[in-house]
Amino acid sequence: MKKVLVVGGGGRCHAIVDALSRSPQVEKIYCAPGNAGIAQQAECTPIKETDVDSLLSFAKENAIDLTVVGPEVALAAGIADCFRANGLSIFGHTKAAARIETSKEFAKEIMSKYGVPTASYRSFSDFNEALSYVNAGSFPAVLKYDGLAAGKGVVIAQNREEAEVALKDMLLDDRFGKGKVVVEDYLEGPEFSFMCFVNGSKVYPMPLAQDHKRAFDGDMGPNTGGMGAYSPLPFITSEDTDFALREVLQKTADAMVAEGYPLTGVLYGGLMKTGDGVKVIEFNARFGDPETEVVLPLMESDIYDIFSAIAEGREPAGELKWCDSAILGIVLASKGYPGSYEKGCPISIDADIDAHIYHMGTAASENGYKTAGGRVMMVVCKGDSVVEARAKANIAAGKVHCDKLFHRSDIGWQVK
Ligand code: AMP
Ligand code: GLY
Repeated sequence: MKKVLVVGGGGRCHAIVDALSRSPQVEKIYCAPGNAGIAQQAECTPIKETDVDSLLSFAKENAIDLTVVGPEVALAAGIADCFRANGLSIFGHTKAAARIETSKEFAKEIMSKYGVPTASYRSFSDFNEALSYVNAGSFPAVLKYDGLAAGKGVVIAQNREEAEVALKDMLLDDRFGKGKVVVEDYLEGPEFSFMCFVNGSKVYPMPLAQDHKRAFDGDMGPNTGGMGAYSPLPFITSEDTDFALREVLQKTADAMVAEGYPLTGVLYGGLMKTGDGVKVIEFNARFGDPETEVVLPLMESDIYDIFSAIAEGREPAGELKWCDSAILGIVLASKGYPGSYEKGCPISIDADIDAHIYHMGTAASENGYKTAGGRVMMVVCKGDSVVEARAKANIAAGKVHCDKLFHRSDIGWQVK
């Protein structure tokens, strides 16, 4: 029987812990730092996800068989390199391979060198050069800070003034630190998330999901980390999926092997179905959040088997199996999110709630849970159709009571 350490603390990690808890091989799960909901299924230890030395000591002291990494900041801190150098088994990419997410310029170079479909681009470190290039082109213009920017590094500038403000922010005022800016063509079409487990050139696809970035119904309001997700996606055909698997995910996995940075974790394609075919908007080097909360509950295989196989560089024992239910999840977020919000507000949940609840940002209180983050919880329901799953999830969202929470009621609106 195996002991597993999951690094991270949001809803994505709760879904990973939950999937691991279904594995017949797993005896004990630890989570660092975890949250109040995860603590129901794993022993949480208050180590920061980027504190690689303390995580390494913890893994050694507790004879951990496998570590699974949630967030990109831990990969960027070199956790996988460090654990492997110490002979420990870990699911997650090396720091160099994680650049497929942590550097937009690196990702763009790989895509252009290997012919992976994406918007054409140029990168700049000089403000004046960037500004004249943008002004000579058409609007909207897409401006992306080259490094990690906690989801705030992309600006869709509608005109010259907006472009100038954004470029000044990123290149003169160094809002996210010293770095370049990638300027790329504006694409249009529905977006979807395609996550795969990747072991070098072996790619194991997961079901597609769609995130909803805007805060309010009707896709209005500011961009957030994601307010809900669902699967399957009726507007993506099996031809689109086959194309994306072959021309995007497989090609990128092969490219990373050829470049000497094999992937050993999750490759997340943030894709768009444009009039000119499926194209890459972004890559992430990890599970998506909130997509993971609707994808992993569909997994019928033993997730420990796939994680450990990739960590150890071998084939998983069996083929990956997925249940073909529809599934939909609604995020309950703190009022004010993605701006400032209050924490510590009590949450009560009706006993007859019929949903899976993943905790994103909660803390324990004397008589239950309280809010402790921007995104607080996600209620996830399965159904025979997305419409049925949405109806159930909306009922479930109404059974979580807290004055300081809000949620969208139109997740999956593209499915009528
Ligand atoms: P990213 O962080 O790269 O996923 O970008 C955040 C959001 O900006 C995406 O989810 C898209 O909605 C939008 N976006 C990024 N790149 C483009 C593009 N080339 N054309 C249109 N929209 C884009
Ligand atoms: N849901 C988008 C992300 O995980 O980056």
